[in-house]
Amino acid sequence: MARKKITIIGAGNVGAEVARQVLAQNLGNVVLVDIAEGLAQGKALDMNQSGPILGYQGRVVGTQNYEETIDSDIIVVTSGSPRKPGMSRDDLFKTNFAIIQAVVGHAASASPQAIIIVVTNPLDVMTYTALKTANCPKERVFGMAGILDSARYRYFLSEALQVSQHVIEAMVLGGHGDEMVPCVSLTRVAGAPITELMSLEQLEKIAQRTRTGGGEIVKLLKTGSAYYAPAAAAVRMVAAVLNDEKALLPCATLLQGEYGFADIVLGVPVIIGCQGVERVVEIQLEAQDKEALTKSAGVTQPLCRQVDEWLN
Ligand code: NAI
Ligand code: 2OP
Repeated sequence: MARKKITIIGAGNVGAEVARQVLAQNLGNVVLVDIAEGLAQGKALDMNQSGPILGYQGRVVGTQNYEETIDSDIIVVTSGSPRKPGMSRDDLFKTNFAIIQAVVGHAASASPQAIIIVVTNPLDVMTYTALKTANCPKERVFGMAGILDSARYRYFLSEALQVSQHVIEAMVLGGHGDEMVPCVSLTRVAGAPITELMSLEQLEKIAQRTRTGGGEIVKLLKTGSAYYAPAAAAVRMVAAVLNDEKALLPCATLLQGEYGFADIVLGVPVIIGCQGVERVVEIQLEAQDKEALTKSAGVTQPLCRQVDEWLN
């Protein structure tokens, strides 16, 4: 069977780490695209040279154009500008809107059947932009944030409780911004409700650290933002598609009435398989989580309407 072809647009911190993890997990061959001269080519060569040591079976091609990307199975979009200290994700809106329009336009016409996973911030509205630009069924364009935000939340909980991260089940829903929703009702430790193991006050502190989790890393790094966990989250989605896993994961998808929202992209639980987002799973949320989700949707909604205006 031919190897799958995964195109990654943007060979910066996240894109290169996605490429490396795709190779390490033997998910297929990679085409790494970047506008900067030599960047994708240099990183591709470096990664290919680690193959004989690490036993990679796939290969990476680095390029500045879209010819090599033709007939990709999956396109991961990481091109854009990362956040700088003190900058909100939404400050990046205008710059990255233009970048997403350009790269998705090229990539989707080279691979009209591909599934597109968006990573670029501001995540929810960039996913909306990519979907409108690719002009394909909504299940084929979706965004990465919920898996990352849930992983941060699970990590912080495991540290506080001193238990394995693997026994913590949790989902962070909503937009990938300061109003994201670490759902109390969906947080369990080996099946037990989190509220039986921790006070609501302590839980809220952890939820707040999760909401500002990306910013905490930006402050520490001083230049650039997180990339190891973001790349792991994006590759988790790539694997779920390629292996037709029917995995239940929180991802940013276009809502058309689900959870009471329409015409916006928002992070909700979905089933990911070979078709992309095969189903939105409507979980009954407790009042406080539903209220927080509505608040989060309220942040993304005007941005999506702004995109509609720019595109018309
Ligand atoms: P980076 O600056 O290291 O890499 C971005 C790359 O995109 C650069 O190499 C740049 O040359 C390239 N690029 C810019 N315009 C391009 C174009 N028109 N065509 C091709 N390549 C182009 O940034 P990093 O750290 O890799 O982050 C990438 C994006 O992902 C940012 O928007 C960041 O905010 C976002 N991000 C989102 C996360 C999420 O949870 N959704 C998590 C982490 C990052
Ligand atoms: C993060 O959450 C910057 O959105 C990115 O790390």
